Amino acid sequence: MQSFATLVTAFEERFSATLPFPAAPANLYDPCRYLLAIGGKRVRPVVCLMAAELFGEINDDAWHAAAAVELFHNFTLIHDDIMDKAPLRRGQATVHQKYGLTAGILSGDVMCIFAYEALAKATRALQPMMQVFNRTAIEVCEGQQLDMDFESRDNVTIEEYIRMITLKTSVLLACSLKMGALTNGALGDNANKLYEFGKNMGIAFQLQDDYLDAFGESDKLGKQNGGDILANKKTYLLITALAQADANQRAAINELLAGNAPDKVQRTLELFSATGADKACRAAVARYSDLAFAGLEDVAIPTARKEPLRQLAAMLLERDK
Ligand code: IPE
Ligand code: IPE
Ligand code: MG
Ligand code: MG
Ligand code: MG
Repeated sequence: MQSFATLVTAFEERFSATLPFPAAPANLYDPCRYLLAIGGKRVRPVVCLMAAELFGEINDDAWHAAAAVELFHNFTLIHDDIMDKAPLRRGQATVHQKYGLTAGILSGDVMCIFAYEALAKATRALQPMMQVFNRTAIEVCEGQQLDMDFESRDNVTIEEYIRMITLKTSVLLACSLKMGALTNGALGDNANKLYEFGKNMGIAFQLQDDYLDAFGESDKLGKQNGGDILANKKTYLLITALAQADANQRAAINELLAGNAPDKVQRTLELFSATGADKACRAAVARYSDLAFAGLEDVAIPTARKEPLRQLAAMLLERDK
C-alpha cells in the first residue's frame, strides 16, 4: 500500500508526461497547461489510485481513471472561477483573469472532453466507470447551479446546503473512489461503500473549504480571502450565523448581505465568530469525517490496507490549503 505522498509523485510524473493537449491553437491549450502546471493537491486522482490498490495492483485502467478525474476537476475549476468571479487560484491568476473570458469558457470545455478521452482508454471496467462518471458530471452541474441560485436567496436551509455541496463537490470524490475500485473488479457492495465514504469525506472537505475561504490564510490557500462572503454564498457559516444570531446580529448580517461595504468581509467574519458559527462549522467537519471513517470500516477489506485512505482523510481535515 502506498502513501499519499508516494502516489502524488507517481501521478504527477505520469500525468505531466502524458498531457493530451496539442501545441496549437495555443490560445485554447495554453490555459489548460497553465492551470495544470500551477499545482493542486491531486486529491481526486490519488484517492482513485488508493481505492484501486485496496483490491490489487494499480493497473493502466486506474491511471486512466485518475487522469480523467483530475482533468474533469480542473475543467470545473476554470468555469467555477468565472462563475465566482475569482481572481486567484493556486496562488496565481485564474484562467479567465489571465487569458480572458472566452478562453476560460472554451479551454474549460475542451478539458472536459479530454477527461472523457482519458477515461475512454480504459479497457476492463469502462462501462460501469462511464456510468458513474456521467452521473457525477451531471450532478456537479446541478450542484453548481444550486450554488449560484442560493446567492440570491435568503432562506437556504442547512439541508439544502448539504445537498448542494454533496452535488457540487462530494460526488466527484466518491466517483473517484468507486472508479478506482472498479478497475480491480471490486464487488458492487464494496465499491458502493467506498462511494459512501467518499460522499461523507467530500461533505467534510467542502465544509472545510468554506471555513478556509473565510478564516484561512490567503497565502497558503492560494485563493482570495472572503470570496464567498463577497459573493453572498450561502455557506454553512452564513446559514448558521443567521440561525444563531440575536436580533441585532441578524440585522447586521442582513445589512452586510444587502450591500457592498468596504469592510464587508471583516465585519462578516466578526459576526461569524460572535454567533459561534465558526465553531459550529468545525464541529460539522468533525461529524461528517466521523461518518466517513465509520463507513470506511464497513468496507470488507483488511484494516491495514485501508490505512492510506484513513490517513489521507485525516490529513484533509487538518489542511490549511
Ligand atoms: C477546490 O478543490 C474546489 C472544491 C471542490 C472545494 P481542491 O481544494 O481539491 O483544489 P486543488 O485541486 O487542490 O487546487
Ligand atoms: C467549487 O466550490 C466546486 C466545484 C468546482 C465544482 P467552490 O467555489 O467553493 O471552490 P473554490 O473555493 O473556488 O475552490
Ligand atoms: Mg469557487
Ligand atoms: Mg463555486
Ligand atoms: Mg470555496
